[in-house]
Amino acid sequence: MTDADGPDAALDLDRRTGWPDDLRLLIARYPREVWPTHPNLGELSKFWLGRHDMFRELNGALLSASDQLKAGTVPAEAFRQWFLPRIRFFLQQLEGHHMIEDHEYFPLLTRTEPRLARGFDILENDHEAIHAGLLALQEAGGGLARALTGPPDRIGFAAEAMSDTLSGFLTRLHRHLDDEEDLIIPILLDRGEMALGG
Ligand SMILES: [Fe+2]
Ligand SMILES: [Fe+2]
Repeated sequence: MTDADGPDAALDLDRRTGWPDDLRLLIARYPREVWPTHPNLGELSKFWLGRHDMFRELNGALLSASDQLKAGTVPAEAFRQWFLPRIRFFLQQLEGHHMIEDHEYFPLLTRTEPRLARGFDILENDHEAIHAGLLALQEAGGGLARALTGPPDRIGFAAEAMSDTLSGFLTRLHRHLDDEEDLIIPILLDRGEMALGG
Protein backbone atom coordinates (compact mmCIF):
# COMPACT_ATOMS: atom_id res chain seq x y z
CA MET A 1 0.00 0.00 0.00
CA THR A 2 1.23 3.45 -0.83
CA ASP A 3 0.18 6.48 1.15
CA ALA A 4 -1.48 9.11 -1.06
CA ASP A 5 0.69 11.76 0.59
CA GLY A 6 3.79 9.63 0.97
CA PRO A 7 6.91 9.39 -1.15
CA ASP A 8 5.04 7.62 -3.97
CA ALA A 9 2.30 10.27 -4.26
CA ALA A 10 3.78 11.36 -7.61
CA LEU A 11 3.18 7.80 -8.83
CA ASP A 12 -0.50 7.92 -7.96
CA LEU A 13 -2.80 6.65 -10.74
CA ASP A 14 -4.08 10.16 -11.50
CA ARG A 15 -0.64 11.79 -11.54
CA ARG A 16 1.93 9.48 -13.09
CA THR A 17 2.70 9.30 -16.79
CA GLY A 18 4.48 5.95 -16.70
CA TRP A 19 7.16 4.27 -14.55
CA PRO A 20 10.22 6.07 -13.12
CA ASP A 21 13.68 4.84 -14.16
CA ASP A 22 14.17 2.38 -11.29
CA LEU A 23 10.97 0.55 -12.24
CA ARG A 24 11.95 0.51 -15.93
CA LEU A 25 14.67 -2.00 -15.15
CA LEU A 26 13.22 -4.78 -17.32
CA ILE A 27 10.98 -2.87 -19.75
CA ALA A 28 14.16 -1.12 -20.91
CA ARG A 29 15.50 -4.55 -21.91
CA TYR A 30 12.20 -5.90 -23.24
CA PRO A 31 10.40 -3.02 -25.01
CA ARG A 32 6.89 -3.59 -26.38
CA GLU A 33 8.14 -4.07 -29.94
CA VAL A 34 9.82 -7.38 -29.00
CA TRP A 35 6.84 -8.86 -27.13
CA PRO A 36 4.79 -10.33 -30.00
CA THR A 37 7.62 -12.46 -31.40
CA HIS A 38 9.48 -13.29 -28.17
CA PRO A 39 9.65 -17.09 -27.60
CA ASN A 40 8.77 -16.66 -23.90
CA LEU A 41 5.46 -14.93 -24.64
CA GLY A 42 3.30 -17.93 -23.72
CA GLU A 43 -0.41 -18.72 -23.64
CA LEU A 44 -0.98 -17.29 -20.17
CA SER A 45 0.57 -13.94 -21.15
CA LYS A 46 -1.46 -13.82 -24.36
CA PHE A 47 -4.67 -14.65 -22.48
CA TRP A 48 -3.94 -11.98 -19.87
CA LEU A 49 -3.11 -9.33 -22.52
CA GLY A 50 -6.34 -10.33 -24.29
CA ARG A 51 -8.33 -9.71 -21.11
CA HIS A 52 -6.79 -6.23 -20.87
CA ASP A 53 -7.70 -5.50 -24.50
CA MET A 54 -11.27 -6.67 -23.80
CA PHE A 55 -11.52 -4.26 -20.85
CA ARG A 56 -10.20 -1.37 -22.95
CA GLU A 57 -12.57 -2.12 -25.83
CA LEU A 58 -15.62 -2.67 -23.64
CA ASN A 59 -15.03 0.53 -21.69
CA GLY A 60 -14.73 2.41 -25.02
CA ALA A 61 -17.89 0.77 -26.42
CA LEU A 62 -19.89 1.55 -23.25
CA LEU A 63 -18.75 5.18 -23.42
CA SER A 64 -19.67 5.49 -27.07
CA ALA A 65 -23.13 3.98 -26.43
CA SER A 66 -23.68 6.35 -23.51
CA ASP A 67 -22.63 9.30 -25.69
CA GLN A 68 -25.17 8.21 -28.32
CA LEU A 69 -27.92 8.07 -25.70
CA LYS A 70 -26.88 11.53 -24.50
CA ALA A 71 -27.08 12.83 -28.09
CA GLY A 72 -30.47 11.18 -28.56
CA THR A 73 -29.32 9.11 -31.54
CA VAL A 74 -30.26 5.72 -30.09
CA PRO A 75 -33.74 4.59 -28.89
CA ALA A 76 -33.88 4.26 -25.09
CA GLU A 77 -35.15 0.66 -25.11
CA ALA A 78 -32.51 -0.58 -27.58
CA PHE A 79 -29.86 1.15 -25.47
CA ARG A 80 -31.17 -0.40 -22.26
CA GLN A 81 -31.07 -3.90 -23.70
CA TRP A 82 -27.54 -3.48 -25.04
CA PHE A 83 -25.97 -1.43 -22.27
CA LEU A 84 -27.17 -2.79 -18.91
CA PRO A 85 -25.99 -6.42 -19.27
CA ARG A 86 -22.65 -5.24 -20.67
CA ILE A 87 -21.86 -2.77 -17.91
CA ARG A 88 -22.80 -5.45 -15.36
CA PHE A 89 -20.42 -7.88 -17.08
CA PHE A 90 -17.67 -5.22 -17.23
CA LEU A 91 -17.93 -4.42 -13.49
CA GLN A 92 -17.98 -8.08 -12.43
CA GLN A 93 -15.14 -9.18 -14.69
CA LEU A 94 -12.86 -6.30 -13.76
CA GLU A 95 -13.45 -6.86 -10.06
CA GLY A 96 -12.60 -10.57 -10.44
CA HIS A 97 -9.54 -9.78 -12.56
CA HIS A 98 -8.14 -7.48 -9.86
CA MET A 99 -8.77 -10.05 -7.13
CA ILE A 100 -6.72 -12.68 -8.97
CA GLU A 101 -3.92 -10.18 -9.56
CA ASP A 102 -3.87 -8.98 -5.93
CA HIS A 103 -4.04 -12.43 -4.35
CA GLU A 104 -2.13 -14.62 -6.81
CA TYR A 105 -0.13 -12.92 -9.55
CA PHE A 106 1.29 -9.91 -7.70
CA PRO A 107 2.66 -11.89 -4.71
CA LEU A 108 4.22 -14.48 -7.06
CA LEU A 109 5.75 -11.85 -9.31
CA THR A 110 7.03 -9.81 -6.36
CA ARG A 111 8.86 -12.89 -5.09
CA THR A 112 10.20 -13.55 -8.60
CA GLU A 113 11.49 -10.01 -9.12
CA PRO A 114 11.82 -8.23 -5.72
CA ARG A 115 13.57 -5.26 -7.37
CA LEU A 116 10.18 -4.30 -8.87
CA ALA A 117 8.22 -4.79 -5.60
CA ARG A 118 7.42 -1.09 -5.32
CA GLY A 119 5.71 -1.25 -8.72
CA PHE A 120 3.37 -3.97 -7.47
CA ASP A 121 2.52 -1.90 -4.37
CA ILE A 122 1.60 0.95 -6.71
CA LEU A 123 -0.51 -1.31 -8.94
CA GLU A 124 -2.31 -2.66 -5.88
CA ASN A 125 -3.00 0.90 -4.85
CA ASP A 126 -4.39 1.54 -8.37
CA HIS A 127 -6.83 -1.32 -7.83
CA GLU A 128 -8.22 0.44 -4.77
CA ALA A 129 -8.65 3.67 -6.73
CA ILE A 130 -10.28 1.76 -9.60
CA HIS A 131 -12.56 -0.03 -7.15
CA ALA A 132 -13.87 3.36 -6.01
CA GLY A 133 -14.46 4.13 -9.71
CA LEU A 134 -16.34 0.85 -10.12
CA LEU A 135 -18.66 1.84 -7.29
CA ALA A 136 -19.25 5.20 -8.96
CA LEU A 137 -20.06 3.40 -12.23
CA GLN A 138 -22.42 1.07 -10.42
CA GLU A 139 -24.23 4.07 -8.95
CA ALA A 140 -24.40 5.84 -12.32
CA GLY A 141 -25.68 2.56 -13.84
CA GLY A 142 -28.46 2.35 -11.24
CA GLY A 143 -29.42 5.99 -11.90
CA LEU A 144 -29.46 5.37 -15.64
CA ALA A 145 -31.52 2.17 -15.33
CA ARG A 146 -34.14 4.08 -13.30
CA ALA A 147 -34.11 7.04 -15.71
CA LEU A 148 -34.66 4.74 -18.69
CA THR A 149 -38.01 3.63 -17.30
CA GLY A 150 -39.04 7.17 -16.29
CA PRO A 151 -39.85 10.43 -18.10
CA PRO A 152 -37.69 11.12 -21.24
CA ASP A 153 -36.19 14.38 -19.89
CA ARG A 154 -34.42 12.46 -17.11
CA ILE A 155 -32.63 10.21 -19.59
CA GLY A 156 -30.35 12.98 -20.91
CA PHE A 157 -29.10 13.89 -17.43
CA ALA A 158 -28.47 10.26 -16.46
CA ALA A 159 -26.70 9.60 -19.77
CA GLU A 160 -24.48 12.64 -19.23
CA ALA A 161 -23.55 11.44 -15.73
CA MET A 162 -22.76 8.00 -17.13
CA SER A 163 -20.62 9.41 -19.98
CA ASP A 164 -18.63 11.59 -17.55
CA THR A 165 -18.06 8.66 -15.17
CA LEU A 166 -17.07 6.27 -17.98
CA SER A 167 -14.76 8.81 -19.57
CA GLY A 168 -12.82 9.43 -16.33
CA PHE A 169 -12.73 5.72 -15.66
CA LEU A 170 -11.35 4.98 -19.15
CA THR A 171 -8.41 7.37 -18.68
CA ARG A 172 -7.43 5.76 -15.38
CA LEU A 173 -7.97 2.22 -16.62
CA HIS A 174 -5.70 2.79 -19.64
CA ARG A 175 -2.94 4.18 -17.42
CA HIS A 176 -3.23 1.21 -15.07
CA LEU A 177 -3.35 -1.49 -17.77
CA ASP A 178 -0.46 0.02 -19.76
CA ASP A 179 1.77 0.28 -16.69
CA GLU A 180 0.79 -3.14 -15.41
CA GLU A 181 1.74 -4.70 -18.75
CA ASP A 182 5.03 -2.77 -18.83
CA LEU A 183 5.92 -4.14 -15.40
CA ILE A 184 4.74 -7.75 -15.78
CA ILE A 185 5.35 -8.84 -19.38
CA PRO A 186 9.12 -8.12 -19.21
CA ILE A 187 9.38 -10.29 -16.06
CA LEU A 188 7.63 -13.16 -17.85
CA LEU A 189 9.81 -12.76 -20.95
CA ASP A 190 12.94 -12.70 -18.78
CA ARG A 191 12.04 -15.71 -16.58
CA GLY A 192 9.44 -17.58 -18.61
CA GLU A 193 5.86 -18.24 -17.54
CA MET A 194 7.05 -20.63 -14.84
CA ALA A 195 7.27 -17.41 -12.81
CA LEU A 196 3.46 -17.60 -12.60
CA GLY A 197 3.32 -21.37 -12.31
CA GLY A 198 2.06 -21.52 -15.95
FE1 LIG B 1 -4.58 -4.63 -12.48
FE1 LIG C 1 -4.71 -6.57 -15.12
